[in-house]
Amino acid sequence: MDTMNAIRNRKSFRGPFTDAPVSREDLTELLEAGYLAPSGCNLQTTRLIGVDDPELLAKLADIYSHEWAKGATAAILLLGSFTMSPSGVSYHVHDYCAAAENIYLAAADKGLGTVWIEGQIRGERAEKMGRLLGVPEDQTVYIYMPVGYPAQPGPDAKKKPFEERVWFNGYGGAESCTSPE
Ligand SMILES: Cc1cc2nc3c(=O)[nH]c(=O)nc-3n(C[C@H](O)[C@H](O)[C@H](O)COP(=O)(O)O)c2cc1C
Repeated sequence: MDTMNAIRNRKSFRGPFTDAPVSREDLTELLEAGYLAPSGCNLQTTRLIGVDDPELLAKLADIYSHEWAKGATAAILLLGSFTMSPSGVSYHVHDYCAAAENIYLAAADKGLGTVWIEGQIRGERAEKMGRLLGVPEDQTVYIYMPVGYPAQPGPDAKKKPFEERVWFNGYGGAESCTSPE
């Protein structure tokens, strides 16, 4: 799949999944996609954990407490920690977000379904996931991405019209930009 097609086809998928396992090779490539993401000042603050052990997957889905996630045959967790950069801010949040988007695109490219789960695990659930996986105290689990082969196509999220959010040469549509699709 070319890059623009992967971008256009990417969407959050929340199950159901088939029983087909995600191969180590494919899971490794998703992790590589996250690892290769850009990072502020190239500090590379994001840590990634791939999970394909069925017991751990079941425990993660239990902590998340959403039935559909139990069908995922793999998962990726993205971790980070506050890291002051030479520009005086920590870019660790930007860094793991860039990594998550890369993983979304690599998954789309392979026909795998996944979703960026952050808001629903923030706090206690993320801490439990971290303890389960031996994450050290100075690292925070920010994102849990269950991964698997979709058993059926998921819904498309409704996007605002392109023209409402995108312009050329100034804010607000003095010169409008029409969606290329
Ligand atoms: C910062 C952030 C946090 C998110 N947290 C969650 C979450 O906790 N649970 C969930 O189901 N989806 C979560 N999502 C996925 C969004 O709901 C999803 O991207 C959005 O609905 C648009 O759908 P799309 O990804 O298919 O374009 C999150 C996405 C982002 C960028």
